Amino acid sequence: TTMTAMAVALSAGAALASSGCDDGEIVIKFAHVTNTDKHPKGIAASLFADRVNNEMDGKACMEVYPNSTLYDDDQVLEAMLQGDVQFAAPSLSKFETFTKQFQIFDLPFMFRDIEAVDGFQNSETGQKMKESMVRRGLLGMEFWHNGLKQMSANKPLTLPEDMQGLKIRVQPSDVIVAQMEALGASPQPMAFAEVYGALQTGVVDGQENTWSNIYGQKFYEVQDGTTETNHGVLDYLVVTSVDWMDSLPEDVRTQLSTILNEVTVERNAAVNQVDAEARQSILDAGGVIRELTDEQRQAWVDAMKPVWNQFAEGVGQDNIDVAQSFNG
Ligand code: LMR
Repeated sequence: TTMTAMAVALSAGAALASSGCDDGEIVIKFAHVTNTDKHPKGIAASLFADRVNNEMDGKACMEVYPNSTLYDDDQVLEAMLQGDVQFAAPSLSKFETFTKQFQIFDLPFMFRDIEAVDGFQNSETGQKMKESMVRRGLLGMEFWHNGLKQMSANKPLTLPEDMQGLKIRVQPSDVIVAQMEALGASPQPMAFAEVYGALQTGVVDGQENTWSNIYGQKFYEVQDGTTETNHGVLDYLVVTSVDWMDSLPEDVRTQLSTILNEVTVERNAAVNQVDAEARQSILDAGGVIRELTDEQRQAWVDAMKPVWNQFAEGVGQDNIDVAQSFNG
């Protein structure tokens, strides 16, 4: 690449974590929707690509497309089945049309913290979930953590009643829709890339997300504040195509899986730190964070947890029991 071409690429917002695959290398595209800095998924995807590009030089080459520059989450899984992209890491809420199994992760107050989520994902029940979409052509490789979700709006939120009548952006998940309805809010499914603009123009009043997403997308700029509800989890499944994986030479498949596993272990262990840094960055940038008393938080639990009853049968009480066993 010449310096001029590089400058042009940089000024255009340089989508690629690394570019320039050599002839004969297997080109691997990883598309995701978040930013890359101070973000668990952004950091992990870039590290995955760096390691593949260093350690598999001559065999394979990975290009990362962050910030929905290649696909948003509504398109990426179909594109993967078409062979147009090889890796993605959509949040677990985005797999609903492929499997209902991940609904357990969207149930409010299912997990006390990310350690409980980690324990459940690494249980036999959790590990089996990675293969729940193989018949549909998708293979779950690893779970990646992001964190617990917080609630924000264009007015202060202290009690669940404050959500009454608000239009709230949600991911396309029946569970999250039901959760917002339980609060008397009006859920509005919308792609991640559109949320900032929708908040800014008042198309929606609020949203729920993790500290790293609220920071990375600058939602705090266009909200009154964020209330630390920790009411649910937002985690990811690193997913690839069964057909594509099967088409790889065995040594490539093994090396790729090993690198991905090592990146997963390393970055999942660092997630609480990244989460805390993003939270602090919101404060440093002038964003408002409201903490709840135990009593106030209990009111959110009481308002939202009944949603479990609507989904317990589909999710399976036995799975819920396993998940709950990790809350200590
Ligand atoms: C969202 O749509 O809010 C999240 O799933 C985005 C992400 O990938 O963290």
